Amino acid sequence: MANSLPRTLPASWYCSKPLYSLEQRAVFLKSWYLLGPVTKFKENEPVVYEYAGVTLTATRATPDDSSIAVVDDKGNRPKTHLTPTGLLFSTISEAAPSFHDFFPGLEDVLSTVDFRVRPYRRSISYHGDFNWKTMVDGYQECLHCAYTHPSFSVLYPPTSYAVINHHNWCRHIADPEKPDDGVFLYLFPIGTLNVYGGGISQFRVCPTEEPGGTRMEFDYYNVEEGEKFEEYYKFVRQVAIEDYGLCEKAQSNLERGIYAEGILNPVKETGVAYYQQRVLEMVLSQHHEDKQNKKNLQHRPADGASTDATASSQSELDSSSYSGNFNFTTRAGAGIAVST
Ligand SMILES: [Fe+2]
Repeated sequence: MANSLPRTLPASWYCSKPLYSLEQRAVFLKSWYLLGPVTKFKENEPVVYEYAGVTLTATRATPDDSSIAVVDDKGNRPKTHLTPTGLLFSTISEAAPSFHDFFPGLEDVLSTVDFRVRPYRRSISYHGDFNWKTMVDGYQECLHCAYTHPSFSVLYPPTSYAVINHHNWCRHIADPEKPDDGVFLYLFPIGTLNVYGGGISQFRVCPTEEPGGTRMEFDYYNVEEGEKFEEYYKFVRQVAIEDYGLCEKAQSNLERGIYAEGILNPVKETGVAYYQQRVLEMVLSQHHEDKQNKKNLQHRPADGASTDATASSQSELDSSSYSGNFNFTTRAGAGIAVST
């Protein structure tokens, strides 16, 4: 029985700098990111984002939503996608597939909400002493809700909470009796989008060079302003602060080395199992690709005819190399010894 239960990623995956380097190429460069509803972008007021070391700047030129342009720090225009009801997404590299290949079916759910009518109100950003996956682990289940979020649990009883997994996105159903009561989404790898009442909240768990650190970024939108908005803001910030404390404690336990990996609840933690599996698949695939590239370079005939492309590939490989201080021997028999 225990063998068939989903297992967590090893603790080393939350603490390793070399793994972050691998995740950067395996996961982050190949993903799509929600920049926000179009109401966030005011004319000629650039909005700056940073994802895994790549800076994006989004600027609206005219009142027409299609005039919002995104450029990266090298001046390139990444692939972007504007949904029919007003959400702007972007990539950070050419390695990402098309929007619909990355998020199949997502636009159908997004089309049930008009994101153009909820004004942008406020953003907040701060550092967190935890790995990006520590926060996503918590977002993807609600087993902790009853004792961590007493005020949230009154509105949304955790006993009926469910997560439905799709490809690279998950829908959270807080109360199956009220399927139309809001849209709560996890957008792989580091995004969320929560719509309820007249409000929208969105957060990004931005990874940093230090695996035990993140930059948390929140954006809030609401049809209400003044006191009514402040009431909403107080409620959502309370939930965010409660999660923050939980993540810092979880990270310090992961870093102590007494925990290796564990079993996930097969009913209540399917969202955690799903996204961790995606990370595992993408990282292993990148690892195989790196190994193959290294082998190909080693077997190249030493004829002195090394081209710029060869030199460039070698240099890329060298700069992205990692040492084996994290553990690939994990669930699903994926035991791969990393040697350098
Ligand atoms: Fe939580």
